[in-house]
Amino acid sequence: MAPTPLTSLDVSGRRLAVRADLNVPLGPDGVGDATRIARFARGMKPLLAQGARLVVLSHLGRPEGELTPALSLERVKGALADALEAPVRFIDTCAGPMAERASLALAPGEVLLCENLRFERGEEVNDPRLGADLARLGDIYVNDAFSCCHRLHASTTAAVDAAETVAAGPLLLEELAQLDRALDTPLSPSVALVGGRSMAERLGLLKRLVAKIDTVLLGGGLANTFLFARGYSIGKSFCEPELADEILEIAALAEVAGCRIVMPRDFVVDGLQHAGQHAYPVPLGGIRPNRRVYDLGPDTVELYRGLLRTARTIVWNGPMGTYETPPFDGATRALAETVAEQTRAGICVSVAGGGDTLVALNRSGLAHDFTYVSTAGGAFLEWLEGRPLPGLEALERAQRAD
Ligand code: 3PG
Repeated sequence: MAPTPLTSLDVSGRRLAVRADLNVPLGPDGVGDATRIARFARGMKPLLAQGARLVVLSHLGRPEGELTPALSLERVKGALADALEAPVRFIDTCAGPMAERASLALAPGEVLLCENLRFERGEEVNDPRLGADLARLGDIYVNDAFSCCHRLHASTTAAVDAAETVAAGPLLLEELAQLDRALDTPLSPSVALVGGRSMAERLGLLKRLVAKIDTVLLGGGLANTFLFARGYSIGKSFCEPELADEILEIAALAEVAGCRIVMPRDFVVDGLQHAGQHAYPVPLGGIRPNRRVYDLGPDTVELYRGLLRTARTIVWNGPMGTYETPPFDGATRALAETVAEQTRAGICVSVAGGGDTLVALNRSGLAHDFTYVSTAGGAFLEWLEGRPLPGLEALERAQRAD
């Protein structure tokens, strides 16, 4: 059952308590990547123009119930005000009578940003009392954080259960619609690019993808683990050797489903700094015991580009190398260019997601050329795996209760 869209309700003069995801990377100069804020604001601006009174709830980082000044949401207040093109008031709590009074004092079109939800011990244990407090901040309680729907927290679940009127926000609905459209029944040939550091985090994803997608291309630290399990030497590269059995299971599942898993055939490894040679390509089988893999090599990039050019659906999760440190961003950038070209030419539908993937694609300046880039990290993975997301289940419960 689809959750009630906020856009179907009259919001004029009403207080909207909105669970957003303003969990953005912070640097010394403030917000590092403001994509999540921009995407949230895009959905909220028309509602403010209609006279909604907006109370914004979010977490930032993982303070685990402790008041942690470095993780105060006040740090994103300026970026939120810029994105909303409206002044934003900040309150150093998110629950209780003070927060409720501040929400009631809002005039139509005004915005209140509450302090980090995770400073409250009740948030991560889905405390119903905190949920009821949060629900009281709005006449309508809105979940607009698809990227947090995999968390069974008070703001995603107990508050939704406690609120009288509940709705799904515009960004949450956009994420769901776009992901469903591209990935429910992917057009063939379909190709998934799966990278990132940890194989452990992506075992469920790979199991699901090999059953659904024609070809899976591996990169990142995850590819090292795959290669190691298949008996290749990967030198001193990052690896999760304990996952060998799981990898054999994935390979067997792929075979049954007729999915081709493609492993890298060469790599960029670290080099001898004193020789002025910082990075150079080596073939699979040629990684010396004292070397580390940092990126895919040029032959692999060409192979992957060729396969991407055959695809009508492309799914991407996880960077292909240590993209934060040039020159090890080469493969991620080159493959992003190919996906962008194919998408622009109308040849494929391309969907990417995952926290690092979003940042890597933004750095390449090509994110806008993809069909859709999800703001979600863990939730994107769990959605792709087909796991039930507690935040979406709560919205469905509320819809059924109406
Ligand atoms: C994310 O960054 O994926 C979301 O904001 C959820 O954050 P979390 O992994 O700390 O729950």
